[in-house]
Amino acid sequence: MEDNAVKRAAEIIAGGKLVIALTGAGISVESGIPAFRGAQGLWEKYDPMEVAHIESFRRNPQKVWQMLSELYQIVLNAKPNPAHVALARLEQMGKLTAIITQNVDALHQKAGSKRVIEFHGSGESLTCLKCGKDYSIDDVDLKQIPPTCSCGGILKPDIVFFGEPIPPYALEESFALAQKADVVIVAGTSAQVYPAAQIPYTAKQRGARIVEVNLEPTPLTGSVTDVFCQGKAGQILPAIVEEVERLIQT
Ligand code: APR
Repeated sequence: MEDNAVKRAAEIIAGGKLVIALTGAGISVESGIPAFRGAQGLWEKYDPMEVAHIESFRRNPQKVWQMLSELYQIVLNAKPNPAHVALARLEQMGKLTAIITQNVDALHQKAGSKRVIEFHGSGESLTCLKCGKDYSIDDVDLKQIPPTCSCGGILKPDIVFFGEPIPPYALEESFALAQKADVVIVAGTSAQVYPAAQIPYTAKQRGARIVEVNLEPTPLTGSVTDVFCQGKAGQILPAIVEEVERLIQT
């Protein structure tokens, strides 16, 4: 990890007036949750159009629930890692206004972050496709798949499948923040899925500076990123936040 990049990233964040973060699956990899793309990515094992598209879910809920229950077993036992904790700390210091996350694992909230916009929904709640009744994942028996409602309808997690719209509140709030932010921290996302990936570009057009944290370069790195910190988010984000703390105390 290049110390100089961490220092430059911390200076930008410490000087920011409205700092937001956009996070992706990479920030939860160190909590044991596989990312989607790249080496051990989930989409190496499953075809996303087969198991993550709303039409596939309606056509074959049993098959989609096989993948979902595997993912739930991992997510429900996952704990926030130092990357999540660092962003919660940054918010407590008054240097992070909100996190826009593409993740559905609720680990930012479990780490103590207060303002988290779940751009792709959340796996913590489910809805009956037949009667619309809401369920918490804690009240669902995952030994029986697909899980069903008391009315007999099939339950669907409140996550955004391919082919589904982004929750209107999340879309509106995220782009309103992207237009006002003067710093965007982009951590653990391959920046390939829209409209989430548009957020750093929107902010950049308004003059924001972009700090990117990733194991490897993404389409953002050579275009809108001002400081690229290459490495694990669980190591880099705590180092950046520690440096921000030092800077704002002096
Ligand atoms: N630290 C930092 N970055 C990491 C780490 C780590 N420990 N591990 C992996 N990464 C990076 C990878 O290099 C990759 O760029 O995280 C990124 C993960 O990319 P994806 O798996 O594509 O995840 P994400 O960008 O969140 O996907 C966006 O695609 O399938 C849909 O809805 C799903 O929300 C998801 C969306």
